[in-house]
Amino acid sequence: MKRIIFIMAIMMACCSVQGLASVTDAGKVLVVYYSYTGNCRQIVESLTAQIEADVMEIEPAEKGLQYEANNYALGMQLLNAINAAPNDPDSYPAIDPVTISDLSGYDNIIIVTPLWWSQMAAIMQTYLFNYGSQMAGKHVGLIVSSHSSGISQVVADAKRLVPDAVWMGDALWIKASNHSNRATLIQNWIASQDFAPGQSTMDKLFVTIDGVTQSATLADNAATRELVNRLQEASITVTLNSSGGFEIWGPLGFSLPTSNEQVYAQPGDIVLYNGSNICLFYGSNSWSYTRLGHIDNLTQDELRTFLKAGESNINVTLSLTSGPAVKRGDVNGDGEVNIGDVTTLIDYLLSDETAPDMADVNEDGEVNIGDATKIIDIILSDDSN
Ligand SMILES: Cc1cc2nc3c(=O)[nH]c(=O)nc-3n(C[C@H](O)[C@H](O)[C@H](O)COP(=O)(O)O)c2cc1C
Repeated sequence: MKRIIFIMAIMMACCSVQGLASVTDAGKVLVVYYSYTGNCRQIVESLTAQIEADVMEIEPAEKGLQYEANNYALGMQLLNAINAAPNDPDSYPAIDPVTISDLSGYDNIIIVTPLWWSQMAAIMQTYLFNYGSQMAGKHVGLIVSSHSSGISQVVADAKRLVPDAVWMGDALWIKASNHSNRATLIQNWIASQDFAPGQSTMDKLFVTIDGVTQSATLADNAATRELVNRLQEASITVTLNSSGGFEIWGPLGFSLPTSNEQVYAQPGDIVLYNGSNICLFYGSNSWSYTRLGHIDNLTQDELRTFLKAGESNINVTLSLTSGPAVKRGDVNGDGEVNIGDVTTLIDYLLSDETAPDMADVNEDGEVNIGDATKIIDIILSDDSN
């Protein structure tokens, strides 16, 4: 008998280690929570004792409200306003600015929310209404705390507000009667969830300015997928200008699919403006943009230097590799200067597409047949510098 118990104990230990191991292999995790009376905060503490994650608390803009007053009437009022017009931003109670506005660096997001009147707490609904679109394609998990009510409507709210999430698995319901057992419930839940692995290097964009290359993490949306498709063909060089004291921007020379939203762009953010312009930020600005990504790990001062803040006609090369600088004449960006570059150049001349700067191979300020001749000269002389 003792032997059986011993074997079972070893098997259970192996199972739990296996569950946690899949989380250990997971990509970056962000836990987003709202808590009025502290239960969700305690759940987040138990959760982050078990997995490595960044944590962000959502707070209402209006402080000191007593949601439990008049038999929880205020909470009901907030939810009624949302239910009456769920697509209207004005239906949602205001929240404080969030500390992490760019979710592009996260592979997994866990939402921890209280249940109010059998629905998702109104404050968390505001957050997801504003930021849920950034969770498209990411693995998203849901933990709900209630006194005793079931959570099916909260799950439905989450699916409405984050329609394009990849749900990690079933939501975890922690009710008052098992709140004290939350560590074990969370441990079992983690083991059952499908976490996304870390982002591959395909999610990285490399930005080169004046011979200096910095990596950026791409957002996952239709625009970045199309951009990656194009960059797989060839790197792209654009000429950007400083503007407004907060960005360098200019035309890409082609359009990308938009999913515009009001974005409070931060230093390091890369966005698409009006479908065919790229903006790289060394300051902040709020406007309707499609997120493309974020330059990794640079301070605001470093960004100002890297992006040549204040200057004009800045040549910016976008590529999927951090490899050597583009060779002169390598118009299609495949690393070689050959007849394929002549063909690409002629394609530009015959189409309405704006040719990238690097197509001006003879550097006379124009892209024309003279550049094709120059490429042939380079090939014949084997002088690709
Ligand atoms: C406005 C409001 C409405 C609530 N409605 C319900 C309810 O319908 N059913 C229920 O079981 N609990 C309800 N609760 C209780 C909370 O879901 C529960 O206490 C939860 O643990 C709170 O999480 P927090 O401490 O992180 O805010 C309500 C709480 C508030 C503030």
